Amino acid sequence: MLNFSFQNTTRIHFGEGKISAISREIPIDAKVLVTYGGGSIKSNGVYDQVVAALKDHQWFEFSGIEPNPSYNTLIKAVDLIQQHKIDYVLAVGGGSVIDGSKFIVAAACYKGDDPWHIVSKQEKIQQALPLAAILTLPATGSESNTGAVITRDGHKLPFGSPLVRPVFAVLDPTVTLSLSDRQISNGVIDAFVHTIEQYLTYSVNGKVQDRFAEGLLLTLIEEGPKALQADTKNDLDVRSNIMWAATMALNGLIGAGVPQDWSTHMIGHELTGRYGIDHARTLSIILPAVMKVRRTEKHDKLLQYAERVWQLTTGSDDEKIDQAIALTEQFFTSMQVPTRLSQIEVGVDAIDELLDLLEQHGMVALGEHQDIDLAVSRQILITAL
Ligand code: NZQ
Ligand code: ZN
Repeated sequence: MLNFSFQNTTRIHFGEGKISAISREIPIDAKVLVTYGGGSIKSNGVYDQVVAALKDHQWFEFSGIEPNPSYNTLIKAVDLIQQHKIDYVLAVGGGSVIDGSKFIVAAACYKGDDPWHIVSKQEKIQQALPLAAILTLPATGSESNTGAVITRDGHKLPFGSPLVRPVFAVLDPTVTLSLSDRQISNGVIDAFVHTIEQYLTYSVNGKVQDRFAEGLLLTLIEEGPKALQADTKNDLDVRSNIMWAATMALNGLIGAGVPQDWSTHMIGHELTGRYGIDHARTLSIILPAVMKVRRTEKHDKLLQYAERVWQLTTGSDDEKIDQAIALTEQFFTSMQVPTRLSQIEVGVDAIDELLDLLEQHGMVALGEHQDIDLAVSRQILITAL
């Protein structure tokens, strides 16, 4: 196992009715900014629950944080914070609202030349306002991690700091019942790929991490399709298991002490930045190609994945790996997401531009061995056609 330090300080309030916990969690003298997206929280009752819980607090609101949150939108919230001397931010939404709010809390305390440098130059964040989250879409893990992804002029870039990790997060699975099938699928796939990217590398004999990861993968494979089937889609146990799996997939636990390979995400970000494809749908296209192109480097872990996750016990090693990749694609198809670039009408002529973008963004040494250079990324994109 590799050396690591692990700390996750986000207090989780999980379960039906837990939104009311925010009245006790947020200091009564705080001036709160409630941030949210395009209005789903107004139609599913979450907004009303927030209003009721904050009845004794002084609070303001900022809406309109879009999927793949943009710098141009977020910077307006920073103005509002300065105008009203706000000192606490409560993000209510999915990964986009929470990620966007992470940028807002950092930019509000930024003392340098240009707050965009937090993202574009990865300037170290020195200070941030406290942030809390009410999660409405299980997917990204943003509710208890330190990362965020922000878009500006078609460039989708990550940043992170322990200072933007939410102080607490409310996970009420009933809130997810208003999600469309597309968003449910996206969430399950995102969490699945997060788990894979911290698992499918090379073995360092991290048994706890491996078995946690396999447990999450099995849970998502079992419960994901149920959240789309008419007779089980409103089952709260199904929703609870998906919600907790998505948080655990990217809260730092399974990735501590093991190698990681975020190439699927980094290549996927270019597809979202350039073509606006949903984040998870870029992952379902790129991951199978990564498995195929990196099959030699990932051989032992692919075999472990085949045997422990897909329970493939007969045939040669190569046959098991072939089958595991095919079953991964079948799972993605059963979750109604694409597995090829052709399904989203991106052709071979797009590849040079995507590689240029990867280069511009410094994504030239990806993977657990930092050896996924532009030539390997080209192979991955060609394999995904
Ligand atoms: O804006 P509203 O009206 O709220 O609607 C949203 C949005 O249109 C809707 N929605 C959310 N909760 C709902 C709901 N609709 C009905 N009922 C509910 N309960 O869903 C739509 C998509 O929301 P979004 O927040 O964009 O989705 P998701 O949670 O998948 O977040 C994706 C973003 O997270 C980033 C992605 O790059 C992308 O920008 N990621 C962040 C990560 C992190 N911070 O660690 C890691 C991930 O890999 C990912 O990159
Ligand atoms: Zn993701």
